[in-house]
Amino acid sequence: MAHWQKNDDRQALTAIRYRVFVEEQQVPEDVEMDAFDETSVHLLARSDEYGFIGCARIMPSGQIGRMAVLKHCRGGGTGSLLMTAAITEAKRQNFEAIFLHAQCHAETFYSRFGFVACGDVFDEAGIDHIKMTLPA
Ligand SMILES: CC(C)(COP(=O)(O)OP(=O)(O)OC[C@H]1O[C@@H](n2cnc3c(N)ncnc32)[C@H](O)[C@@H]1OP(=O)(O)O)[C@@H](O)C(=O)NCCC(=O)NCCS
Repeated sequence: MAHWQKNDDRQALTAIRYRVFVEEQQVPEDVEMDAFDETSVHLLARSDEYGFIGCARIMPSGQIGRMAVLKHCRGGGTGSLLMTAAITEAKRQNFEAIFLHAQCHAETFYSRFGFVACGDVFDEAGIDHIKMTLPA
C-alpha cells in the first residue's frame, strides 16, 4: 500500500503515471492528475532491478484506476499482481460496487479478473473506454 500524503510514495506514483499516461499515451497532465488522488488508496509495485515499476489506485467510489506498468516491465505479471491486490483491497473495503473504466485495448486483461463490460464505449482523455464491473 502506498500513501499519497507521503512524499516518496507520491513521487513514485506520479513518476510512473507521468511516463505511462502523459508521455506514452498523450493524456493531458491536468487530466491525469486529479483531486481523487488525495482520497484514494494507492498501490505501488517494486522490482529489485528497476525500483518502482507499476501502480494503481482505488477511489472512494469503488472504482479501480490509474493501472500502469512501465513499458519495459510489461508482460511479466506485474499488472496482474496489482490488479489482484486492488480487488482484494476493494473487497475488504466492502464497496457497493467494484468497477473501472477500461481502455478498450485492455478489456481482455480486466476480463481475466472477472470484470464484465457494460454500456457503450466512451471517450476519456481522448482514448476509447468501456465501463466494466466486477459481479459480487
Ligand atoms: C495494462 C497493463 C497495466 C498490464 O500490465 P502488465 O504488467 O503487462 O500485465 P501482465 O504481465 O500481468 O499481463 C497479464 C496478461 O494480460 C495481457 N495483457 C496485458 N496488457 C494487455 C492489454 N493492454 N490488452 C490485452 N492484453 C493485455 C498480457 O499479454 C498477459 O497475457 P499472458 O499472461 O497471456 O502473457 C500495462 O499493459 C500498462 O501499463 N499499459 C499502459 C497503461 C494502460 O493502458 N493502463 C490501463 C488503463 S485502463
